Amino acid sequence: MEARTKSTIFEGSAARVFQFYLQNSDEHTAVVRFLEDHLPAEFKRMAADKNELAVLGVGSGGGEVDVQILSLLQSTFSTLPITADIVEGSVELLANFKALVRKTESLQKIPFTWHVMSSEDYIKQINGLKTYDFIHLIQMIYYVDDLTESIKFYHSILKKNGSLVIIIEKTGRSWDTLWRTSEELEDNETPRYRSSEDVLASLKTLGLKYEEYSIPNTFDITECFDPNSTIGQGLLCYLTSTPDFYKSFTPQIRSDILKLIRSKCSTEKDGKILFDNCLSCVFVHA
Ligand SMILES: C[S@@+](CC[C@H](N)C(=O)[O-])C[C@H]1O[C@@H](n2cnc3c(N)ncnc32)[C@H](O)[C@@H]1O
Repeated sequence: MEARTKSTIFEGSAARVFQFYLQNSDEHTAVVRFLEDHLPAEFKRMAADKNELAVLGVGSGGGEVDVQILSLLQSTFSTLPITADIVEGSVELLANFKALVRKTESLQKIPFTWHVMSSEDYIKQINGLKTYDFIHLIQMIYYVDDLTESIKFYHSILKKNGSLVIIIEKTGRSWDTLWRTSEELEDNETPRYRSSEDVLASLKTLGLKYEEYSIPNTFDITECFDPNSTIGQGLLCYLTSTPDFYKSFTPQIRSDILKLIRSKCSTEKDGKILFDNCLSCVFVHA
């Protein structure tokens, strides 16, 4: 992969666009619902014979999903001490995460260690010295420099019976179609687009066992087709990873992208245009 000049860490406008997207989509609701259904069994397998549990979140953003995972872990094992390490380079999103922890009564007993840095710097710094029972990389593995090496590293720091969970856009679904079809969306400042098949290929190369699940969800993009809509513009910025959809592309390219989104990435229901945001969740065991 070519060297990148732009940081992938969500700071400033990237953090704002991401938060806007979260407010206007059901992604977190779908992810949390899926985890609530699948994690209790995973936690029981992972915690057998243990007297404490160590969790690592990488690229956790504002921590909305992390807080739900930790609360779920706590309610599954009310007497086991839990620690949380968080690797996230965005100072802004980490401030939101810390505020969320402060106001979540049930998390006050969990000691948090904040690593304000990229995954690459964490890998160099920690050098495999600390190990974890549960590691999650949720919607962030697009941004790591070396996919296979990152997975290899995080798998290598799992404790006995530990689990590594990766959530990423599913190959062949809308996000994948949009990013693989629209060459204009990729430049040498944007990381090469990845989806679930890339993760599975790395796992196969490493000879690791995994289970893959789907997390279906859609979000309403009807307003993307109204050039005067602020919501529509905000969502288009997130979908195309640009600070301003209308200033970033020529009218022809904008029209091609909108046509692709409408015809190949969405369905229409009750007068609404719904973007198919199906995710893949991959469980990898120690
Ligand atoms: C799409 S957000 C996902 C945040 C969170 N996991 C969630 O699902 O809400 C991607 C996150 O990865 C972080 N990130 C980007 N590049 C990273 C890297 N190289 N190492 C660690 N985190 C990174 C960003 O700052 C951002 O918070």
